Amino acid sequence: MVGSLKTYLEEKIAYIEQHLLPGLEREGVPATLFESMKYSLLAGGKRLRPMLVLAVLEAFGKPLERGIPYAAALEMIHTYSLIHDDLPAMDDDDLRRGKPTNHKVFGEATAILAGDALLTRAFGYIAEAYLAHPEVKAETTVKLVAELGRRAGAAGMVGGQMADIEGEGKQLSLEELEYIHLHKTGDLLIAALRGGGYLAEATPSQMDALTRYGLCIGLAFQIQDDILNVEGNAMLLGKAVGSDANRKKATYPSLLGLEASKQRLAALVAEAKGAIADAGLSHSALAPLADYVMERNK
Ligand code: IPE
Ligand code: IPE
Ligand code: MG
Ligand code: MG
Repeated sequence: MVGSLKTYLEEKIAYIEQHLLPGLEREGVPATLFESMKYSLLAGGKRLRPMLVLAVLEAFGKPLERGIPYAAALEMIHTYSLIHDDLPAMDDDDLRRGKPTNHKVFGEATAILAGDALLTRAFGYIAEAYLAHPEVKAETTVKLVAELGRRAGAAGMVGGQMADIEGEGKQLSLEELEYIHLHKTGDLLIAALRGGGYLAEATPSQMDALTRYGLCIGLAFQIQDDILNVEGNAMLLGKAVGSDANRKKATYPSLLGLEASKQRLAALVAEAKGAIADAGLSHSALAPLADYVMERNK
């Protein structure tokens, strides 16, 4: 990773992390539930989805502060999805973000409820924070809620998770595998980019470019996740490796092999950068962030 990107990521992570906890409600929340939500939300992680929201605002020369509630909400939804993904009924994982998974610490019932509460809070927070924001129109707020609702829901991330579970142990076609990747992972990244676009008042053609970029890096991100599950380092990743093969998950490497997976990954990153260039946004962090999706080792 180039030094300037490393510094960029560190600065943005620090900025994002300052604003995660204040987004949760505290009053009236049972202590165990709050602790469980906080445990996973503040457990670390790359913070890629919030980072993309901020990168879009930055690309359009808008104040980053405007992206915070939406960025934090995305991270809440992402965190809930990880808590539930790790449950024994799903991927049954013990390690996440370098720490014991939520259900290992708090038990399954609390982990399920912490996920429910993070998901619900995400929408409440967007509505509350932006309705009180002097520069964000109510119409924009409604667009954010609609975008996130669709992308995180049954035709989006949850649908992708369903197909991933149903695909276990089966030989899927490339099309079926791409459905899984685009939805379980791609949709939330697309929601980050499009939400950033709404907040930055992007034009329809700029929104199209952001969507195309999101589609490409979404798919690329999950291909790299699959590759790292084969040849990554569990210590660096903060989660288990080899687990996809153990659970007979449909993945890029299992379907195409590692070499072809890496070629597809590189082609997608190039396409993502092309979309950004077409929209005149090559000067922004969106270009190096596309490389980061491919080069990351955690
Ligand atoms: C992991 O997401 C789950 C996928 C959608 C592939 P990340 O790799 O972004 O996880 P964190 O947030 O950095 O822990
Ligand atoms: C997780 O996908 C996707 C969501 C949580 C929506 P995976 O199950 O492939 O990701 P990891 O490897 O557990 O992070
Ligand atoms: Mg999974
Ligand atoms: Mg998993």
